[in-house]
Amino acid sequence: MEFHHVSVMPEEVLEALHIDSDGVYVDCTLGGAGHSRRIAERLSPKGRLIGLDQDAEAIAVAKERLATFPCRIDIVHSNFRYLGKVLSALGDPPLSGVLFDLGVSSHQIDTAERGFSYMQDAPLDMRMNPEGGKTAADVANTYSEEDLARIFHDYGEERWGKRIAEFIVKARAEKPIERTGELVDIVSRAVPKAVRRAQNGHPAKRIFQAIRIEVNDELAILEQTFQVAVQHLAPGGRIAILTFHSLEDRIAKRTLQEMTRGCICPPELPVCMCHHQKEIRLLGKARTATKEELSENPRAKSAKLRVAEKLAAKQEEVEVHAGT
Ligand SMILES: C[S@@+](CC[C@H](N)C(=O)[O-])C[C@H]1O[C@@H](n2cnc3c(N)ncnc32)[C@H](O)[C@@H]1O
Repeated sequence: MEFHHVSVMPEEVLEALHIDSDGVYVDCTLGGAGHSRRIAERLSPKGRLIGLDQDAEAIAVAKERLATFPCRIDIVHSNFRYLGKVLSALGDPPLSGVLFDLGVSSHQIDTAERGFSYMQDAPLDMRMNPEGGKTAADVANTYSEEDLARIFHDYGEERWGKRIAEFIVKARAEKPIERTGELVDIVSRAVPKAVRRAQNGHPAKRIFQAIRIEVNDELAILEQTFQVAVQHLAPGGRIAILTFHSLEDRIAKRTLQEMTRGCICPPELPVCMCHHQKEIRLLGKARTATKEELSENPRAKSAKLRVAEKLAAKQEEVEVHAGT
């Protein structure tokens, strides 16, 4: 099957990264290399592109699609939670830009047997890296009712999560839940028809999102990874983060905002003791896709692009708090 994924907000991402042709860029979510290809087109032979993905299929496609560019290209099969280690193994180059285009690719969703889609019957898997780790079936069949209800609430924002968890536990007592179709049936039985009709989309969509986030531990690693990315930026370097749901976006917004703060001492201290420094400045508010893009790529509907620029390190000096 051909790898199909239409990159989201491609022009805005390029503008955000403000490509320096001799710079070093990291694409933490290579996918089909749609964004990376646009970056590589703008790099000189002195420039460098480092791409990561945890999905071996994406890595193979990206290698092929990036094979002919003149810049130096390093493609690494890794979860971006190891970004610090990957960069260290590549010589810790100061970065001009880092991109995160979070979540799954259209190719992953469209490949039925990977079990990401609630619309196609397939084994209940949902691993972005199918080489290891727990599957969606492990979550559905081994998590306690309380834990299932918690992830449906926290990661799916599903109001009927408790009842769906109860139905799952009852169903699996008779027979393990092995296929996406079985899970969709259970969810449909748990949520009354009238509620399903009134709700925004099928509840299985939110349940699948919740299980996918749990299987791939998608949220827990974001804050630390964004911080590591910023630490590796050269002054003036940019971080661009594309998120696709409010849970990811809240973490991106909060983590970037934290890094715009200087001193975080309690105000009653006369001088700064924390030595916390502003690391970045935000470049505007979150951007969304244009109407034109939305008409061609519905996947861009929930996308938000947040961008920040690394500041030069300040000289260490005693900071006297105002009013003390
Ligand atoms: C939305 S797609 C990227 C599409 C790409 N920007 C393009 O334009 O073709 C997201 C990709 O990130 C990968 N991914 C998601 N979370 C990851 C993580 N924690 N570490 C490494 N790769 C990850 C997925 O496997 C998927 O291939």
